[in-house]
Amino acid sequence: MTDQELIQKAKSVRKNAYAPYSNFKVSCTLLSSSGKVYTGVNVENASYGLTTCAERMAVFTAVSQGERDFEKIVIVTDTREPKNLCGACLQVLSEFCQDLKIICATVSGKSKNYTLKELLPKAFKKIR
Ligand code: THU
Repeated sequence: MTDQELIQKAKSVRKNAYAPYSNFKVSCTLLSSSGKVYTGVNVENASYGLTTCAERMAVFTAVSQGERDFEKIVIVTDTREPKNLCGACLQVLSEFCQDLKIICATVSGKSKNYTLKELLPKAFKKIR
């Protein structure tokens, strides 16, 4: 899938984000090294702390399907400028990714490219 197709796919699942408390919908696509694409959206809860970010939703779905390595993640938000991933999601991604590419995009078509190493250069790792 091209970057544009990954962005388009993330946009297409945006409607499934459940964000009645923050009104801030996040959706993403995660491309595994095996070439499969997984999606995620944020799912909030009346007990706010139970909210799950879109990115972790995608990672956990993919891992539950047997994936262990990822190439790229695309995040889409309806903001003026592209938004970065939160620190918790970066840490979760670092468990499985060596050289993950990150694309932060807006609904209106802006995007910024990063790497996981750039956004979380000193991730905590227990497994050597
Ligand atoms: N959120 C994500 O889904 N991903 C992030 O990387 C940061 C924040 C969600 C959580 C919550 O539902 C809403 O955005 C506002 O924080």
